[in-house]
Amino acid sequence: MSQAKRRRVIAGNWKMYKTQADTRAFFSAFLPLVRGARACDIVVAPPFTSIPAAVEASRDSGVAIGGQDVFWEKEGAFTGEISPPMLVEAGCRYVIIGHSERRQFFGETEQTVAKKTKAALVAGLTPIVCVGELLEHREAGRTEEVCERQFLGGPGALTPEEFSRILVAYEPVWAIGTGKTATPEIAAAAHRFLRKCAERKFSAEQARAVRILYGGSVKPDNIQGLMAQEELDGALVGGASLDAKSFASIVNGCEAAQ
Ligand code: 13P
Repeated sequence: MSQAKRRRVIAGNWKMYKTQADTRAFFSAFLPLVRGARACDIVVAPPFTSIPAAVEASRDSGVAIGGQDVFWEKEGAFTGEISPPMLVEAGCRYVIIGHSERRQFFGETEQTVAKKTKAALVAGLTPIVCVGELLEHREAGRTEEVCERQFLGGPGALTPEEFSRILVAYEPVWAIGTGKTATPEIAAAAHRFLRKCAERKFSAEQARAVRILYGGSVKPDNIQGLMAQEELDGALVGGASLDAKSFASIVNGCEAAQ
């Protein structure tokens, strides 16, 4: 293959877990275990209140910190929301947008995903934009239709320049927190399809360059099989990112698969 290899990313989405004290304890156990990691980027997305503790504890380690969501305005009367410049000031470099739990429980739509992504980019954050089908979609043979709709309404609503600065995460909802990982082949087929959507919307070059992470029950014992698929540019890890040892072994499994 002639194109430059896409650098892999292992990102931990802590969801609504870990206090500040838990966060400090995590990093003191985790960082020594990943000191040798060079081939993959590492991101941790704690809850908002634990971001300062995570930034402090990971300083100079090469581990980047991210938010789990963001609002699209810079400031204003939006009770409960956090803006992109606020995340940047707190030390974040990444932000997860459009997670299925936001879609399912908090009314996230393709339109809000696109607005949040654009605003995050203006502030200089790297958005990790999530897409993925429900079990009922997959069983009805509608996986591609749903992924295409989410892709076109979110990442596909960006300019080509904006699109070149995001990461996409494919997270089939039936695999999240269920222990049911997509097989490496199922994940790779969905990634190939999303790359095809990117090619149609943008260009072949942009489709080749975009990094697509897989998320859904990624664990230390399945990371190497998943990373054996060239289509997968890393992982977005929920439950297994909460434990320093298991998240480190996922990072090191990704390193070993390079
Ligand atoms: P699990 O790894 O717990 O299945 O969660 C995946 C996820 O939702 C990451 O964003």
